[in-house]
Amino acid sequence: MKQNVSPKGAAHSPIIHDSAQKHVTGRADYIDDLTEPSGTLHAYLGLSDIPHGRITAMDLEAVRKAPGVHLVLTADDIPGENDISPTGLHDDPVLAFPNVAFYGQPIFAVVAETRDQARRACKLARIDYETLPFALDPITARDADMGYVTKPLTLARGDMEDMARAPRRLSARMTVGGQEHFYLESQIAMAIPGEDDEVSIHVSTQHPTEVQHMVAHVLGVPASAVVVNVRRMGGGFGGKETQMNLFACVAAVAAKRLGRAVKLRPDRDDDMTITGKRHDFVIDYEVGFDDNGKIHAVSGDFYARCGFSADLSGPVTDRALFHADNAYYYPAVALRSHPMRTNTCSNTAFRGFGGPQGVILAERVVEDIAYALGRDPLEIRKLNLYENGQLTPYHQTVEDQILPQILAELESSSDYHARRQAVLDWNARGGVIRKGIALTPVKFGISFTATWYNQAGALIHIYSDGSIHLNHGGTELGQGLNTKVAQIVAEALGVDIDRIRITKTTTEKVPNTSATAASSGTDLNGMAALDACRQILERLTGFAVDSHGVKPDQVSIGEVVQIGDKTLPFADFIRQAYMARIQLSAAGFYKTPKIHWNRDAGRGRPFYYFAYGAACAEVSVDTLSGEYVIERADVLHDVGRSLNPALDKGQVEGAFVQGTGWLTSEELWWDDKGRLRTHAPSTYKIPLASDRPKVFNVALADWSVNREHTIKRSKAVGEPPFMLGISVFQALNMAVASFNDYLENPRIDAPATPERVLMAIERLR
Ligand code: MTE
Ligand code: MOS
Repeated sequence: MKQNVSPKGAAHSPIIHDSAQKHVTGRADYIDDLTEPSGTLHAYLGLSDIPHGRITAMDLEAVRKAPGVHLVLTADDIPGENDISPTGLHDDPVLAFPNVAFYGQPIFAVVAETRDQARRACKLARIDYETLPFALDPITARDADMGYVTKPLTLARGDMEDMARAPRRLSARMTVGGQEHFYLESQIAMAIPGEDDEVSIHVSTQHPTEVQHMVAHVLGVPASAVVVNVRRMGGGFGGKETQMNLFACVAAVAAKRLGRAVKLRPDRDDDMTITGKRHDFVIDYEVGFDDNGKIHAVSGDFYARCGFSADLSGPVTDRALFHADNAYYYPAVALRSHPMRTNTCSNTAFRGFGGPQGVILAERVVEDIAYALGRDPLEIRKLNLYENGQLTPYHQTVEDQILPQILAELESSSDYHARRQAVLDWNARGGVIRKGIALTPVKFGISFTATWYNQAGALIHIYSDGSIHLNHGGTELGQGLNTKVAQIVAEALGVDIDRIRITKTTTEKVPNTSATAASSGTDLNGMAALDACRQILERLTGFAVDSHGVKPDQVSIGEVVQIGDKTLPFADFIRQAYMARIQLSAAGFYKTPKIHWNRDAGRGRPFYYFAYGAACAEVSVDTLSGEYVIERADVLHDVGRSLNPALDKGQVEGAFVQGTGWLTSEELWWDDKGRLRTHAPSTYKIPLASDRPKVFNVALADWSVNREHTIKRSKAVGEPPFMLGISVFQALNMAVASFNDYLENPRIDAPATPERVLMAIERLR
């Protein structure tokens, strides 16, 4: 029997984020807002001040004697294993000794009465080193034989002899910068010691299960002794997938040693110095094509600055290769990753997880062909788009291609062709302000490439008063995961969303969870919650059938429960079920079907499906200063059947702006001593509200339905729209190209800061 009234806040409705009001009024609890247990102490980290060397002497006496100091921890004080490598490579110490491998690596921790005392005490350490040679960037590292941090990957398909046979060929190098996460809530952990070997930790993390295991290893206790909690993060963007382990482990070790709660929060400069970022890449590529602009062959070598340890560099550099085709079919292809060891912080996950660095190469290849042939890059894009049935470089068949429709709609809604002509006409007048316009697509694979990560659990309780407690393994970063999962539960149980309480993520309720990452938080946890609802509904329906002598199809559960011709409120029905001893709690589980991946063979179906989108951006550049503005951006993005169009649009807008920041103003710079000199907002510029496009039209492809059986036929949204920022990057390139009548692709490297734009102009002028 079908519910005739749809419950408030059900799936597909554009309701606001469950914490929106709390976010903007400051009433949302972040870790530093939690009430501290009495006697809480504060830790701070002492860092290396050389990029590579061996500690020969460490004098911490003055640190120990400093006011308020209770404890100083070094590598020797780690009770279990001094390692937090997330991939089991044992290359990631909590506290370094005797070798340090980057400037800013934590060597010791100070625990004091106040955070200020702990910080000041850190400065009193005297450490002597024997310095060792170092390499900061991937090419220097390659030339110095620094080696790989993890096993490289090759993706190959087709006959690479086609490169030599292609009518035209070109090769070049592209440098693509990294990116600081700049989450508003910095890394933070508070550990509260419990009885025996137990400890409970509140930490800003995308991956509570990993924190649990890392803390257990470092303390030398079983995972069952460690509880990890997080209600929400003030942003993570991938920077809290592994990087919070360090802070949680130091706080936990200190808390167990002292029997007091210990909180650790680095300030912004130290957070930026210590923690890993988006990998920057140097990409050497070659493309073979014909006079029509059709691609015949592509080869690429992707050198990544991985930092001193592997962290997630393996899967990140893999994903760069997985996306080096973006939306285009390469008949012959050979792509190689080079995850270079460098004496810098250990680079990590960041929205897109290496994918954007691959996608931008594909878009550079298209641009190169267009400039070589004197054509509109959009024509080259359309000519080379995948057709269903074609194979990706990793031998997955593309089956859900919808870009022709997306591009056609966006071309028309953005008035691309007329505006491009207007831009060409404007530039032809040769003024100081030059303009550029570009329309770029994105295709992004959804699933963790580590297949076992594609599982999730949920736990739902209905209390006997009819209120509902919802828990799942995903974490809330601000993206709205909890709202979406609650909407799914509201719809499944037929109840209003206000009845459902969203609760903090904790390893006590749902075990063995995956990071909330790879954009798959809703896909996985939404399905697990649905599975829990299904079990409860089955029991409740059975109860109604047995108690009222009706058939199952005469029962409808919702705010108003209907059993045959009788109706009663949900709470009354639940009370009756409780009295009849019906189990009102269920644990749900989900694993993604169909996916498999053989890394050694470079073949498989790593992705359940693809998400698509496109953006058209127009910029104007002041050619005397290199400064620019985004005049207008139009976005059409595919989220399948949107679970919540308001939240999805928010993700698309935020991702576009963050992607634009990566490619324009955000620049990381290490000096020749290996010091990161862009470690604060004074020197590292993220986009401001005033940097957003002056006109910003964002639409969802509302006709799209996921052909796979995803949750309510929706698609993941967190990462794919990040790459729409590439339209801005290419529009800037076009504005610069006008100085040479578009005869040459200026090939601006990323980020296209005003300085770089100006230098490119000077070269062509
Ligand atoms: N949105 C907000 N507001 N804050 C974030 O930190 N992280 C992004 C994206 N959107 C992020 C965000 C990243 S890197 C990922 S992988 C996804 O959210 C993770 O959440 P999801 O799987 O629920 O989409
Ligand atoms: Mo997102 S980079 O997968 O946390």
